[in-house]
Amino acid sequence: MFDEEQYLQNLHTFSLGRRLYHFESVDSTNSFIINKDWKRGAIAVADVQTNGKGRSGRNWVSESGNAYFSFSVTHLDKSMLMPLNIIIGYAVCDVLRKYTSVYLKWPNDCVASGKKICGILLEASFDGINVDKLAVGIGINLFDINVPKDLNIPVTSLETQGVPTETIIKEKIIADILNRAEELICKLEEGDIEIEKLWRSYSANLGKNITIKIGADKKGFTELGIAKNGALIAETIGEEIRIITSDEVGYDFGD
Ligand code: BTN
Repeated sequence: MFDEEQYLQNLHTFSLGRRLYHFESVDSTNSFIINKDWKRGAIAVADVQTNGKGRSGRNWVSESGNAYFSFSVTHLDKSMLMPLNIIIGYAVCDVLRKYTSVYLKWPNDCVASGKKICGILLEASFDGINVDKLAVGIGINLFDINVPKDLNIPVTSLETQGVPTETIIKEKIIADILNRAEELICKLEEGDIEIEKLWRSYSANLGKNITIKIGADKKGFTELGIAKNGALIAETIGEEIRIITSDEVGYDFGD
């Protein structure tokens, strides 16, 4: 189900993802990292998750075939969480772009043909202002049959996008994401990255109409980009420019 050797052969990181835990079945790889091994270098990969977690308390359907993995990130300042969200989405897009056209939907959904192909969930616990434990969890829809149909937004997979199945190697995709993520995390730590620029190159909705759900209200905006801290910048006719930090943003998938 998961070829550990093939994963390690493709992994070129200094430490990220070097200590591998592979599970045929686990409740949630994020929970494993947070509760069992949050130290530098740990990665948990599961063939199946029995209690896969999505954002905003949603469930992440995790049947056999797709990619479910979480890794630990250490020594991060709290203010870096939102920028980290963005660069992880960017790293996944970069890797999936070797297979098909993928864009970012704020804050870090990866979409292909306007449909969700990957979800990312950062879970952290805090020690004062510092992040104590941090799990970065990633779920990628690789194949047709396993893509959950009951989500409230349209979904797709690499196979649905026309990628030949024999070229979809889970171990390589995961290792490549870790390779790219480590590179970008180092740059983020060194203050050597402009996330606003990254966003402009990969946003699915820059300059387009988006619907933003704030509380119970839904309103039409135009996406202008993101701020240095990762917040979404949007404007609506007759109002000032809004900086949005909530992740409850619904998009018009029609355009
Ligand atoms: C989202 O709602 O878009 C985020 C989905 C994140 C799913 C991944 S699968 C691996 C990791 N373990 C979990 O329980 N969730 C994340």
